[in-house]
Amino acid sequence: MSLFIKKPISVLMAEASETEKGLKKTLGAGSLVALGIGAIIGAGLFVRTASAAAQNAGPSVTLGFIVAAIGCALAGLCYAELSSSIPIAGSAYTYSYATMGELIAWIIGWDLILEYAVGAATVGIAWSEYLNNLLVNVIGWKAIPYEWCHSPFEKLVDPATHEVLAHGMMNIPALSIVTLLTLLLIKGTQESALVNGIIVIAKVAIVILIIILGWGFINPANHTPYIPEAGTYTDHQGIAHNFGGIMGILGAAGVVFFAFIGFDAVSTAAQEAKNPKRDMPIGILGSLVVCTVLYILFAHVLTGIATTEDFRTSGKEASVAFAINKYMIGYTWLGKLVTVAILAGFSSVILVMLLGQSRVFYSMSKDGLLPGAFSAIHPKYKTPYKASLFILILVGLFAAFVPGDIVGDMTSIGTLFAFMLVCAAVIVLRKTNPELKREFKTPWVPFVPILGIVVCGAMIFGLGWTNWLRLIVWLAIGFVIYFAYSRKNSKLQKGIVVNPKDPVDPLNPL
Ligand code: ALA
Repeated sequence: MSLFIKKPISVLMAEASETEKGLKKTLGAGSLVALGIGAIIGAGLFVRTASAAAQNAGPSVTLGFIVAAIGCALAGLCYAELSSSIPIAGSAYTYSYATMGELIAWIIGWDLILEYAVGAATVGIAWSEYLNNLLVNVIGWKAIPYEWCHSPFEKLVDPATHEVLAHGMMNIPALSIVTLLTLLLIKGTQESALVNGIIVIAKVAIVILIIILGWGFINPANHTPYIPEAGTYTDHQGIAHNFGGIMGILGAAGVVFFAFIGFDAVSTAAQEAKNPKRDMPIGILGSLVVCTVLYILFAHVLTGIATTEDFRTSGKEASVAFAINKYMIGYTWLGKLVTVAILAGFSSVILVMLLGQSRVFYSMSKDGLLPGAFSAIHPKYKTPYKASLFILILVGLFAAFVPGDIVGDMTSIGTLFAFMLVCAAVIVLRKTNPELKREFKTPWVPFVPILGIVVCGAMIFGLGWTNWLRLIVWLAIGFVIYFAYSRKNSKLQKGIVVNPKDPVDPLNPL
């Protein structure tokens, strides 16, 4: 048994053409860009921007956005090449199975759980913050008791007396939204894509509105100095962060990197695209470009309206609505509109992340690395419903019982690691399969992939050792499962060729 057995590309392609039995092909280029933007603009912008400003970089969080965008663009160019030449559900997992072998594919598949499942939990937690804002500032009711909308690791502290006012128990709103969206997803991708399209328009409109209207409220004092002096900031949970200077910007880049996650989720839907070879690069790179421009302008406005201290104390939760309500006098309507749009917008992000996760599990299960139930397709809705239900349990646990900052950073570090492997896959595939037809070619290989690896690595470095440790522990758990279950059940290891019409020797594939 080889740990580095590779899945033949011809088998991958044959699997993709088995659409009769598999997933429906319903998505065009427009839907894919919408799917991308739907996945991209979310908690990263509306919650993590303020966290990064508070903990790492102050106003220079905008520079963090630029670093993160560069990393994503480089990885995006690599994703586009892979998804245009191997248009199969499963994203980075599938590409690496064909290029770097089973063990690396497993590592990526396992790592992608951090990106999609833990990412969905992060956005669910952010949704819960804005739900409270809706209840209090829009509808005028009472907030949900602190205990029932925070994890057990959080406590409410009086900033003046440092007295502990309440302890979190369980984040019920976060759990509820992921449950609701899982059920919607099981009903079918096409319906979900329609809902998504409407939400994407609302979300982009609100971001543009905040940039235009907020620009006049920028207080230059909040932008001075733009890059704070290098030092450390210890948050109220006692965790120290690099603040200011280059390390602050790198740390902020790692945190707001979360805001870009999702453009690659487009690639997980490759099997449902009508014309994947043309549409996937458009979907991936198009959505990335639109979002980068909006983010930099938005972060500039947000850190100009409110102070870094605001984001450390009272403006920590539902930060954008807080900044509008406190500083943009006369614009209470905007604060309300933002809250409603954000709640809908976060839902679309969660939906795409859950979709991505179910498709990755679907592919891994088809390959025998996960139990067969994960690829069971619902007879009527044609969706991998059992995978979705299992994911609900996983995401629900994180959403209900872990703080947003922790799951957010875990999502970032996991995704950055997957991006590095994707960049490496492009270099490997150029060597092992030079003849493969590539509709889209990454420019300047190996320079672009190598730079992608360096920039993503720098962001991982910026995220600090607690996050490195979390990633290592997560990967270690993955190794145990691989050697205990997946390796023994792998169809490729057992010599099972998926498409009998296209027999390929699986032990000597490439
Ligand atoms: N990019 C997505 C967000 O910011 C994950 O919510």
